[in-house]
Amino acid sequence: MLRRLHSEQPESFAFTPANQAWAEAQMTKYPEGRQASAVIPILWRAQEQEGWVTKPALEYVADMLGMAYIRVLEVASFYFMFQLQPTGSVAHVQICGTTSCMICGAEDLIAVCREKIAPKAHMLSADGKFSWEEVECLGSCTNAPMAQIGKDYFEDLTTESLAKLLDDLAAGKPVVPGPQNGRYAAEPKSGLTSLADYDAGKPQYNASVALATELGDSVKRIQGDEVPLLTPWIGKDGKVAGRDAAAPTPPAPERPMPAVKQAAAKKAPLKKSAAATPAQPEAAAAAVTEEEAPETLTAARGGQADNLKLLKGVGPKLEETLNELGFFHFDQIAKWTEAEVAWVDARLKFKGRIERDGWIAQAAQLAAGEETEFAKTAKKDGRYDDDK
Ligand code: FES
Repeated sequence: MLRRLHSEQPESFAFTPANQAWAEAQMTKYPEGRQASAVIPILWRAQEQEGWVTKPALEYVADMLGMAYIRVLEVASFYFMFQLQPTGSVAHVQICGTTSCMICGAEDLIAVCREKIAPKAHMLSADGKFSWEEVECLGSCTNAPMAQIGKDYFEDLTTESLAKLLDDLAAGKPVVPGPQNGRYAAEPKSGLTSLADYDAGKPQYNASVALATELGDSVKRIQGDEVPLLTPWIGKDGKVAGRDAAAPTPPAPERPMPAVKQAAAKKAPLKKSAAATPAQPEAAAAAVTEEEAPETLTAARGGQADNLKLLKGVGPKLEETLNELGFFHFDQIAKWTEAEVAWVDARLKFKGRIERDGWIAQAAQLAAGEETEFAKTAKKDGRYDDDK
């Protein structure tokens, strides 16, 4: 298939502040000079934000990564997962047309798409809400025929169930992903022949469907501040799905520290804090005692507070919270010990930001009168992180 940029393009592209911060964080995963390695996740985030990869988005990503535009176009045009034309404002429907699905009726599903959405793949519906395409095997062959809509799989489809799904999505009604014929997961259609005991006590939905149902939206565009997207196992309320808040949180897997973080850690050593786990806010707050509270001020020294928004990850809302807690200056933050980080973290709405965004290392630089890359850009553009 010939894949080229669409004839109509928007004027410009910009990541939302949260997506921008996420994209910059991706770049730190790679050694200095190898930032181009982040091209696929960052392009993907651009697509998740806009629905498709526009020319301005492609150029924006290329500029971020120091790549020639043609190199980014090569990536975007090579991988079919990147949509190079506008997709439906509500959803892009991907019908699997490979062997199992084709045998089980994929062509009939495609006929539904032709009738209800548009006569050809990658065309927008008349109201602009939907688009569709046929894709290769999505790995759900036992539940054929199936489609991916947004982030979820809809399996064991019939022409009727697909048509109803499209109607419900168009009407803004919540839809339930997973098997559409009453199957729990990929067990035999005629019922279980083993582990039948488990069948009796199983929850209403399998884990994927339960999470999608809990989130209540499987086709939302990504702004970057959605907690479940950063940590998909955590619900909108910050709690781990299906786990009691008092239950112990399993330790996070150890990962090698990226070079950029290692450099920051050398400046201000900071070990991972148990209270930085985002899953258990109440338990974390309770675990931190008052003795571990850092020294705070009742007001800014000389009535002149530092602009804490120059710290990456701190926006107007967090700055206000930090001031309320008694922190007004970079040097205060730069001095936080591990226990003090835990104390502050337990009082923030979203846990783990201090470590994730490297506040201590940033604050140490700014307190010493040095600039960070983020502070330079923030001062120039007057754009701070949106932490609401
Ligand atoms: S053939 Fe359709 S999911 Fe594998």
